[in-house]
Amino acid sequence: MRRHAIAVIPGDGIGIEVTTAALEVLEAAGRAHGFELRLTEHPWGCDHFVETGRMMPVDALDGLRSSDAIFVGAVGRPDVPDHISLWGLLIPIRRTFRQYVNLRPIRLWPGIPSPLRDVVPADVDMVIVRENNEGEYSEIGGRLHRGTEDELAVQESVFTRRGTDRVMAYACELAAKRSGRLCSATKSNGIIHTMPFWDERFAHVTAKHPQLQTEQVLIDALAAMVVLTPSRFDVIVASNLFGDILSDLAAAVAGSIGIAPSGNLNPEREFPSMFEPVHGSAPDIAGQGIANPIGAIWSGAQMLEHLGEEEAATAVLTAVEEMLAGGGPRTRDLGGTATTAEVTAALTASMGSSPTV
Ligand SMILES: NC(=O)c1ccc[n+]([C@@H]2O[C@H](COP(=O)([O-])OP(=O)(O)OC[C@H]3O[C@@H](n4cnc5c(N)ncnc54)[C@H](O)[C@@H]3O)[C@@H](O)[C@H]2O)c1
Repeated sequence: MRRHAIAVIPGDGIGIEVTTAALEVLEAAGRAHGFELRLTEHPWGCDHFVETGRMMPVDALDGLRSSDAIFVGAVGRPDVPDHISLWGLLIPIRRTFRQYVNLRPIRLWPGIPSPLRDVVPADVDMVIVRENNEGEYSEIGGRLHRGTEDELAVQESVFTRRGTDRVMAYACELAAKRSGRLCSATKSNGIIHTMPFWDERFAHVTAKHPQLQTEQVLIDALAAMVVLTPSRFDVIVASNLFGDILSDLAAAVAGSIGIAPSGNLNPEREFPSMFEPVHGSAPDIAGQGIANPIGAIWSGAQMLEHLGEEEAATAVLTAVEEMLAGGGPRTRDLGGTATTAEVTAALTASMGSSPTV
């Protein structure tokens, strides 16, 4: 029996609901495929912040370091400022563990209607490789003259050669394994220092991969193209901010943000990688049992693949595909009436073993 140590941070709102659901499916996959997930659950997030003044304990990162992977639901609570929930938990984990690739696959599953007219599943199958450690998400800056007419805020973007090259190299390798098409999201017409630098590094890194078909597109035009001609895109590499926005847009094109997964990868495996759905804690539907668990389950499949459990990862994704294509249960965001538990039960059952009682 293979064993994988997983640190679990369910977080807040529907994060808790979809984590429970995903772990039920992943554990069933483990029983069917000969491995066990050793789960260590951490009750960190906004409730912890309200109680202690911290999103996670001071020594939290030391504790996470020895796990094989980290599995997160979502964080965020309406009475806690969003920059506190993000910078107090997810960003320190992403940075300390050098999870510099945020991998966000997007596909239109058979049986799920896209909000776009005339789009079929074959048209939407792309991966956004988002830079995850630097760029626009920087702590450099500050505020002056608070509360006066002269108030100002400055926020620096940071793009390093090391940080840019490594995420682009990852995107090149991924594109080579897929269709060979790689697009870079840029904005070098308006952002005068960092984006021309981004373009230069893209030219430099892709020069080592002459077999790839590459292009760079301004992010505003790219957003429109993902809506108008999604089939044009396969792998897209983007900075931290552009990748974040583009992947929500692309997930909407694929039917719902509730199905979008993400992996925060440390490709060198010096540190644990972290897997979480793209969506947030969705306070508007939290506690109702209607959250779509597929984003978390697909993130779990990414985690299994990362842990070397490729067969189980494929089995999980096949189960999702067959359930959706076969008219199986679906939650409200996908036009259905099923609960989180009903979707989870259907997927768990198709893993070939019964859920733990
Ligand atoms: N990685 C994260 O933990 C993360 C990411 C984004 C937002 N957030 C936080 O989540 C909170 C809410 O943010 P938001 O409303 O902008 O984004 P959100 O993703 O939580 O919700 C956006 C909309 O999508 C719906 N939705 C999201 N996930 C769904 C699912 N699985 N099933 C069905 N519907 C789903 C919600 O009901 C809501 O209408 C904020 O505090 C924000 O900071 C956290």
